Amino acid sequence: MTESNASPAAGGWSGRFSEPVSELVKRYTASVGFDHRLAEFDIRGSLAHARMLGACGILSATDVADIERGMAALLEEIRAGRFEWKLELEDVHLNIERRLTELVGDAGKRLHTGRSRNDQVATDVRLWLRAAIDEIDAGLRGLQSALLELAAAHVDTAMPGFTHLQVAQPVSFAHHLLAYFEMLARDRERMADCRRRVNRLPLGAAALAGTSYPIDRARVARELGFEDICRNSLDAVSDRDFAIEFTAAASLVMTHLSRLSEELILWMSPRFGFIDLADRFCTGSSIMPQKKNPDVPELVRGKVGRVNGHLIGLLTLMKGQPLAYNKDNQEDKEPLFDTVDTLLMTLAIYADMVGGIRVRPEAMRAALAQGYATATDLADYLVRRGVPFRDAHEVVARAVRHAEQVGCDLPDLPLAQLQAFSPAIGEDVYAVLTVEGSLASRAHPGGTAPSAVREALEQARGRL
Ligand code: ARG
Repeated sequence: MTESNASPAAGGWSGRFSEPVSELVKRYTASVGFDHRLAEFDIRGSLAHARMLGACGILSATDVADIERGMAALLEEIRAGRFEWKLELEDVHLNIERRLTELVGDAGKRLHTGRSRNDQVATDVRLWLRAAIDEIDAGLRGLQSALLELAAAHVDTAMPGFTHLQVAQPVSFAHHLLAYFEMLARDRERMADCRRRVNRLPLGAAALAGTSYPIDRARVARELGFEDICRNSLDAVSDRDFAIEFTAAASLVMTHLSRLSEELILWMSPRFGFIDLADRFCTGSSIMPQKKNPDVPELVRGKVGRVNGHLIGLLTLMKGQPLAYNKDNQEDKEPLFDTVDTLLMTLAIYADMVGGIRVRPEAMRAALAQGYATATDLADYLVRRGVPFRDAHEVVARAVRHAEQVGCDLPDLPLAQLQAFSPAIGEDVYAVLTVEGSLASRAHPGGTAPSAVREALEQARGRL
């Protein structure tokens, strides 16, 4: 970013002013430091606008050709890192327009006919976000397939399912992983739905009221791949719902990943020992030589905070704004950019990390043996023998208390002992007290029986 001596007319709007803005104000109001990221989309939007002006007889064919030639050269400069962004030209739009004019002369000055930076920036951000959503969708899909792959290897791996973080009932580890597959599937639906509303064209709204030139908005929409045009010019330049709903959807993605992270952290703790993360996702301690810390999932858990913050920031940005465009809107970009950056990085690293998880089925099995995980199965067994569920619940509670006192699991109690709690118990009870029996009995769609999980895995593969 360079700063040259600002002439009053540096920004392309200052003919009206008798003195240049102060240095401080210039720095305060400029957005080029961050919105230069929109450059390629700004050029694409300008080209579509210029071609439409040409087709409608508002610009000459020569002007359009000059603009196309200039933009091609300018794009080269940007891609090669040779473009000189100037702070006194305020933002990406004025920087590009000024350079275009240097390259091709008057045609560059005619480009802004029938448009305003207000509809221009709204268009750029929508184009940028649409591309970002597509990348995020690919990232979500990548993580889903990493989860599927790990799940496929662990349909028959039994682990304790928890409620209140207390051992509840046995579940298949694959079933547990597929729960996250479902969350991510909903995240992708939300993103796709949001994309439909992002994908509308503001250009043509000009500053706020539309333009007096005979423009063809549908043509511009077609060229830029927008599904529709924004139907109201005031709304077109001022609406930022699309950014807010995107950020809300992003917050949910991060929330889901944070929950999984919390589990990975717990599972990796030696107290659980269910999994081990590959070394490349962990760091050591500078003082405790034995430590292997799950830094990546911890950071993911932490980064939800910034994305949630961006959501609140954007909501707050909009809440008091009168129609139509206000400079406040310039503040939409940094939170949006950071949300996308955070999400893309997190998704990429996560897919890789899930692929590197080492599972310890023996540790899961040992944890299952300590939590009376098949107590519900014993109650269900008694119900099948005619005992009312509430009574069965009480019988099993007493059996668990006894097992706890003698320090064993339910299937370790001798038959005579079990029968002392209820005469309805027979020899066949041991079949339901095992982990395998418990799992296999939940064979309906959505249940954790290996047969049901295998079916769910197959369907999930088809949905990808
Ligand atoms: N940099 C501005 C933004 O990001 C572009 C639009 C400026 N429009 C204006 N009337 N000052 O919102």
